[in-house]
Amino acid sequence: MARRPFVAGNWKMYKGPVEADALAMALKRALVDVGNVDVAVAPPMVSIAAVAARLRHSGVALAGQNLHPAAEGAFTGETSGEHLKAAGCAYVLIGHSERRTLFGEDDALVAQKVSAAMRAGLLPILCVGETLAERDAGQEVAVVTRQLEVALRGMPADQAAGVTVAYEPVWAIGTGRSASPAQAQEMHATVRAFLHARFPAFVGAQVRIQYGGSVKPGNAAALLSQPDIDGALVGGASLDADDFFAIIRAAAGR
Ligand code: 13P
Repeated sequence: MARRPFVAGNWKMYKGPVEADALAMALKRALVDVGNVDVAVAPPMVSIAAVAARLRHSGVALAGQNLHPAAEGAFTGETSGEHLKAAGCAYVLIGHSERRTLFGEDDALVAQKVSAAMRAGLLPILCVGETLAERDAGQEVAVVTRQLEVALRGMPADQAAGVTVAYEPVWAIGTGRSASPAQAQEMHATVRAFLHARFPAFVGAQVRIQYGGSVKPGNAAALLSQPDIDGALVGGASLDADDFFAIIRAAAGR
């Protein structure tokens, strides 16, 4: 079954409301005639409203970068899935390596956030990936399998089919050193095999697996030509409308 490519831009902590609006405007102009690719952007929380207003009816979806597991409560500084949904988000990134390494998120918390996203009616983009030390120790398959195992444990198959998995090797994020297409394909095949082992066949056939880590216009086509690479989660290059558009075009030509 052909999976529709899915390209998402993670703006991280760049682009306050004014700059975010300008980038959204540029994207809207560039994206007028992109067919057959799902596109989403994840602006900083404070910029979501501005981007949502700008991208209304554009076909570009919105994603949160994180969420708190509770629906609401006395959690100063946090944002719930319900609130992201009300602000116009369809997706939410969960377990990004920067959350895991800089903010101490472990697999158990990631699992709670995945459940919370489902409760709120958001589609999770579940980020997994090994560090350089873990790869050097030959543990990449074990690490990614554990991350998936804990995050998706007990999930009904129909919900699992709506998850996007983003394989982002930590050593490739923001370093300019992307995984090679063959390295990425090998790990994507591992993710696909995990899904086939744990869920009915339609789940593994449907789930889109994005690659993330120094995706640029120059390497996107080679990465996206791999059979199990269904899209990209783009950091730095998503902050430039032309670069992001070039990556989306590469996905469209896949
Ligand atoms: P870069 O594309 O800047 O390497 O970032 C990747 C990433 O972390 C996307 O979530």
